[in-house]
Amino acid sequence: MIKTAFFDTKEYDKASFQKYEKTGDLEFKFFETKLTEDTAELAKGCDVVCVFVNDSVNAAVIDKLYGYGVKMIALRCAGYNNVDLEHAYGKIHAAHVPAYSPYAVAEHTAALLLTSIRRIHKAYNRTRDFNFSLNGLTGFDLHGKTVGVIGTGKIGKIFIGICHGFGMNVIAYDAYPAKDSDITYVSLDELFERSDIISLHCPLTGDTKHMINADTIGKMKKGVVILNTSRGALIDAEALLEGIKARKIGAACLDVYEEEADIFFEDRSGHILNDELLSRLISMPNVIVTSHQAFLTEEALNNIAETTVNNIRSYFDNDGICDNELCYRCGNIENCKKARKERCF
Ligand code: NAI
Repeated sequence: MIKTAFFDTKEYDKASFQKYEKTGDLEFKFFETKLTEDTAELAKGCDVVCVFVNDSVNAAVIDKLYGYGVKMIALRCAGYNNVDLEHAYGKIHAAHVPAYSPYAVAEHTAALLLTSIRRIHKAYNRTRDFNFSLNGLTGFDLHGKTVGVIGTGKIGKIFIGICHGFGMNVIAYDAYPAKDSDITYVSLDELFERSDIISLHCPLTGDTKHMINADTIGKMKKGVVILNTSRGALIDAEALLEGIKARKIGAACLDVYEEEADIFFEDRSGHILNDELLSRLISMPNVIVTSHQAFLTEEALNNIAETTVNNIRSYFDNDGICDNELCYRCGNIENCKKARKERCF
C-alpha cells in the first residue's frame, strides 16, 4: 500500500483523486493546510507528499520529509518553482504533471482578454442591476492588432492559434525558439515596442523574474494590455500599478500574483485584505484578477489526477523510473540519466 499525504487539498482535488483509492494499492490522506515547515509532520508515515503551486517545498521542509521517510514529492501541477530541486537531489525524488490541459490555460487567457477589452465584467454587473446604458463600455477590435507572446511552449502555442483565429498579428519571444515552426520570433525589446497586447507563457526562473518592470513597461506602447496566466513574479506588481496609474498600461489581466500564496484559493470576503498592492490593483477599473483559476477545467482535473497517480505508481512499481521526474540536473548535463531511461539518482 502506497500512502500519500495531500496538502492544500480542495474539494475538487478530492473529487478527482478519490476514485483511485478504490484500486486498492493507494491510500490517501487529505489535508487542507499547505505544506510548510510546521505542517510537514503530517506526512509522517507516508511514502509520498502530493503538493500544489503554493506549498512550500524548501530545503528545511525537504530535510523534515526525508527524515520522516518520505520518498517522493508528487506535484499535481506543471510549474515547480516552489520546490528546491537541488536540495532534494539525492534525497527525495520529485515528479510533476508536465501537461494536463494547455487548452484550459490558453482559453482562460483568451477569456480574460475578451472580458477586459469588451468590458464584459462591467456589462454583467450593469444589466443585473437593470442598467442598460452603454456609456463607458467602448472596446476595440482584436482583428488586426499585434499580440506579443512570451514563451511559445505548449500553452503559448495554443494561445497563438486562438489569436490567429481572431485575425491578429502574432509576434513572439522565446529563449529557446521552436524549431521548424511558422512563429514570427522577434527580440524581447521589439516585442515590447510593437505589441498592443502582451501575454506571458514562460516559466518563472532567475532570468524571467520581474521581466515586466518599470524599464520594460517604459518600452511598451501606450494603452498596452498585459495578460499573465503564468506566474505572478514575472511581473513587478508595483511597477505595473505605476504604469496603470500613469495611463501607460491600458489594461491588465492577472490570473497569478507574486504574493498570491497566502491569499488565493480561499474565500476572504468579509475580511480586510492585508495586501495594499493587490487591493489597489483590484480597485482599478481596467484590471481583472482571477485566483489562479486558468487550469480549472474538468478535463484538466482528470488529467492531473491520472498523471499524478501514474507518476506515483511508476516510481514504486517501476524501480523509481518515472518519465515526469524532475531533477535540477536534467537536460543540463551530458549523459543525463533520465534521457537514458534511468533513475535520476
Ligand atoms: P512549456 O514548458 O511547454 O513552455 C514554456 C516556454 O517558455 C518554453 O517554450 C520555453 O522555451 C520558454 N522559456 C523558458 N525560459 C524563457 C525565457 N527566459 N524567456 C522566454 N521564454 C522562455 O510550459 P507551458 O505548459 O506552456 O506552461 C507555461 C507556464 O504556464 C508554466 O511555466 C506555468 O508557470 C504556467 N501555468 C499556469 C497555470 C495556471 O493555472 N495559471 C497552469 C499551468 C501552467
